[in-house]
Amino acid sequence: MDYGTDLTIEDLRTHYDAVIFATGAIKDADLNIPGIELDGSYGGADFVSWYDGHPDVPREWPLDAKEIAVIGNGNVALDVARVLSKHADDLLSTEIPDNVYAGLKSSPVTDVHVFGRRGPAQVKFTPLELRELSHSKDVDIILYPEDFEFDEESDRQIQTNNQTKTMVGTLTNWIAEQPEDLSELKASRRLHLHFLHSPVEIYDDPETPGKVAGIKFERTELDGTGNARGTGEFVDYPVQAVYRAIGYFGSALPEIEFDHKKGVIPNDGGRVLDASGSHVPGVYATGWIKRGPVGLIGHTKGDALETVTYLLEDRENLPVASVPAEDAVVDLLDARGVKFTSWEGWLALDAHELALGAAATEAGGSHGVEVKRERIKVVPREDMVDISRDGVAAQV
Ligand SMILES: NC(=O)c1ccc[n+]([C@@H]2O[C@H](COP(=O)([O-])OP(=O)(O)OC[C@H]3O[C@@H](n4cnc5c(N)ncnc54)[C@H](OP(=O)(O)O)[C@@H]3O)[C@@H](O)[C@H]2O)c1
Repeated sequence: MDYGTDLTIEDLRTHYDAVIFATGAIKDADLNIPGIELDGSYGGADFVSWYDGHPDVPREWPLDAKEIAVIGNGNVALDVARVLSKHADDLLSTEIPDNVYAGLKSSPVTDVHVFGRRGPAQVKFTPLELRELSHSKDVDIILYPEDFEFDEESDRQIQTNNQTKTMVGTLTNWIAEQPEDLSELKASRRLHLHFLHSPVEIYDDPETPGKVAGIKFERTELDGTGNARGTGEFVDYPVQAVYRAIGYFGSALPEIEFDHKKGVIPNDGGRVLDASGSHVPGVYATGWIKRGPVGLIGHTKGDALETVTYLLEDRENLPVASVPAEDAVVDLLDARGVKFTSWEGWLALDAHELALGAAATEAGGSHGVEVKRERIKVVPREDMVDISRDGVAAQV
């Protein structure tokens, strides 16, 4: 069911007293550097959608690079780097869709380089996700002593913020344990964590025009305020693919005001605003479309509480739905020929995916690997809807 095509704001207003938009942010933020449009330059968010089995992205992902750069030092950069560097067989115990397993299995990758533009005390990722990296089998993590710069502001951060302290502790332990001679590391794949690198240009090669052949960075130094500035020194890394994981950006929704600079629906604590800054009665927002793409699930829950609190505060003055009958929307969707699913349909799809996983486990695993498969995800939208509707029909 698509808001804006299958159902309009007017339809929703007809059937409900209030609407809450929780549409999130799924697109990659832009990175404006030369070469970003080259073949082999990707958005991290798009890649996440692919490996999570999002139905609206192509089933195939080009995985032909041996050396890969990931730009950004947030959790998405770490997730992307972890999936790119891990051996596909080690992902079979997760909910990895079959097309994703097949793609990753064929990947010739040997080196994944993650680049942060500030120092180790300024990373945005979180301790759990950092430690998760070290659990990948046959993948060595490599750090570089010249990237370990701490200024007074970093020291202040380390002393006052437990998370920063833990992260810097983990990174400094890893580098202390690393052999001086890197050739002693024997894993078949390497994950390099670089700091103080700001991306300048992605370039191609005269022999393969239009295709990523490398990336240029300017080395940076901390400026004492928590930020970094360029040093005028440039370094090149030969890579055949670049993933930018520098944040998400929200998408505009039909008939709802949108802040194109921030990528959010303008709102006051969750009450949606119109172009003149006035509350639109009965329309609310929550999550990343409300406050931008930051924060973990816990923050999002607090944020939802704020929106719902305002909605309840407004309840006496909400515009009243003219057709509030529970089945009215269902009838409308049926009349328009929209193939939608219901909560029961979702449960049927869930049961189907779990049964696929159980059958694979009983048969001894998947793809020749003996592994317990919790579930096998169904990826195409049509199949998901058909299975959920058939499942409900079968129960009736
Ligand atoms: N497993 C999990 O719990 C999980 C998984 C995924 C996402 N998340 C959460 O989802 C939210 C979004 O994550 P995210 O990783 O997309 O964003 P993020 O945490 O905001 O990190 C973005 C990273 O990109 C860097 N960056 C931004 N613009 C850049 C540029 N022009 N050049 C180079 N680097 C640039 C930032 O550097 P600066 O810091 O210098 O700006 C930062 O390191 C976060 O709150 C994250 O924790 C959580």
